[in-house]
Amino acid sequence: MTERHEPESLSMPNIVAIDGPAASGKSTVGFSLAERLGYVYFDTGAMYRAVTWAAMQREMDLADHDAVGALAEALDIDILPPSDDLCDGRQTTVLVDGMDVTWAIRAPDVDRNVSTVSAIPRVRTALTQHQRRISRRFSQGNVVAEGLVMVGRDIGTVVLPDAPLKVYLDASAEERARRRYEELMRRGKGVGYADVLADMRRRDEIDTHRAVAPLRAAADAHVLMTDGFTPDGIVEQILALMRGEVIGDW
Ligand code: DC
Repeated sequence: MTERHEPESLSMPNIVAIDGPAASGKSTVGFSLAERLGYVYFDTGAMYRAVTWAAMQREMDLADHDAVGALAEALDIDILPPSDDLCDGRQTTVLVDGMDVTWAIRAPDVDRNVSTVSAIPRVRTALTQHQRRISRRFSQGNVVAEGLVMVGRDIGTVVLPDAPLKVYLDASAEERARRRYEELMRRGKGVGYADVLADMRRRDEIDTHRAVAPLRAAADAHVLMTDGFTPDGIVEQILALMRGEVIGDW
């Protein structure tokens, strides 16, 4: 972990909510921001992926909302900073009932089903409660880290509507599909760009139109378009926002 904590961090917001569509840069930016500040990075998408993975493992009918909802309530999901001896590119370690599923939850079949599972109201209630419990430990100063960067789709609108800083990252569907395609190629997954783009549009459609907690920017979120910016450039913009600077001229 880089030891480059911002000197002003004590006077900055201790909870940063970052939302946005798939491949908008949330995880890369959120992780790097957390490292810069010495904050904990928490990826809530990993929780929806963990429930999806567990339901598929059990060969559940994903249309059975009660069964999948009950599973989300019962599962023991842990999202932890990776231990120092694990150098496989992970940002967090995800455990489901004690089993390391960090990479299993990133498989293409989980990608295909996670929007369906995350649209189930009972799943959202269970995971939202879990996420609020985690953030309360930070707002009440019960954790050694200086703060929390929580990343997802509904953090600023539903999970933490009072978060002191909300950021909504976005980029064109083509740019996001290109990023996801390159990431999958790096991980040796043989996919075509056109399929990735189609899947991205399908997931956007489900995420923005679901009845509960649809993806949208909170009224008080800072919306940052990431096309043409490096992740570092976006991190700098968020740090500027945290310092209270106006960033209209970037
Ligand atoms: O960010 P991601 O691709 O890992 O998210 C996986 C899915 O989880 C995505 O389809 C939307 C859903 N999600 C959600 O509904 N609410 C969140 N707070 C985080 C993710």
